Amino acid sequence: MRSTDQEKRMMIFCLLLAAFSSPVFAGEWTANVVKELDVLVQSCAVVPCTFTHPKEYHPDSAINAIWHLKSDGKKRIYSDAQRDVLENFKGRTKLLGHLSDGNCTLEMIEIKDHDNGPFCFRMELPTGSIDKFSFVNDCVMFKMLPNPPDPILTHSTAIQGRPFTITCSVTHTCPSHVPELTWNRATTDDVVTVVHKKNRFGYWEMESILAFTPEEKDDHSEIICTAAFFGGRNLKPCRISM
Ligand SMILES: *[C@@H]1O[C@H](CO)[C@@H](O)[C@H](O)[C@H]1NC(C)=O
Repeated sequence: MRSTDQEKRMMIFCLLLAAFSSPVFAGEWTANVVKELDVLVQSCAVVPCTFTHPKEYHPDSAINAIWHLKSDGKKRIYSDAQRDVLENFKGRTKLLGHLSDGNCTLEMIEIKDHDNGPFCFRMELPTGSIDKFSFVNDCVMFKMLPNPPDPILTHSTAIQGRPFTITCSVTHTCPSHVPELTWNRATTDDVVTVVHKKNRFGYWEMESILAFTPEEKDDHSEIICTAAFFGGRNLKPCRISM
């Protein structure tokens, strides 16, 4: 086990793939939407979004929630009224947030490399033209990632007979269908801990920590972490040699 201080913090790039309060009635129209999101082509993305609207308009059951292209309010990528949705977005968008909580969070799946946006949220109350509002100053742009982001491996020094941990982590923007991290080892003494955490607005990190006590037979063995993203992409694992 030549392990090695220099290797202590080693980053390995790989790819993967595979498979893969009531803030609502605040008296004015405001929205808080992530401005730019890195999204993985063929996979999915979740756009965090919250909004407030004038107090007098609160028949929540009657709100029509819409996401549309900034360039044209009629080009709808999501609407409660399915017939209004652009053909190529039908079945690919879903509102995850509850409007009554002022939550307009949007999910898009099967992302195409030209789904860049910008996309803006709009509310329509069926009572008259004054009760409609497009948040065109708070839109989201997608930056396309043709390939999955690189998982990062970090590990402690491997010494025979001493506990060893190695962490594999990958950032993503689809908390509704999280990437899965797997290891090429499966001995009963291995302990795997999975941690999912929020990073900056719109970004998440999935982490898998593998812990075991290296034995002589582990000398020069390879440890491989594989990240599988929703949507089924080709896989290229990351590996380190002990
Ligand atoms: C909005 O809804 C999404 C999806 O249910 C949820 O994950 C998120 O935490 C909500 N945001 C807020 C601010 O409550």
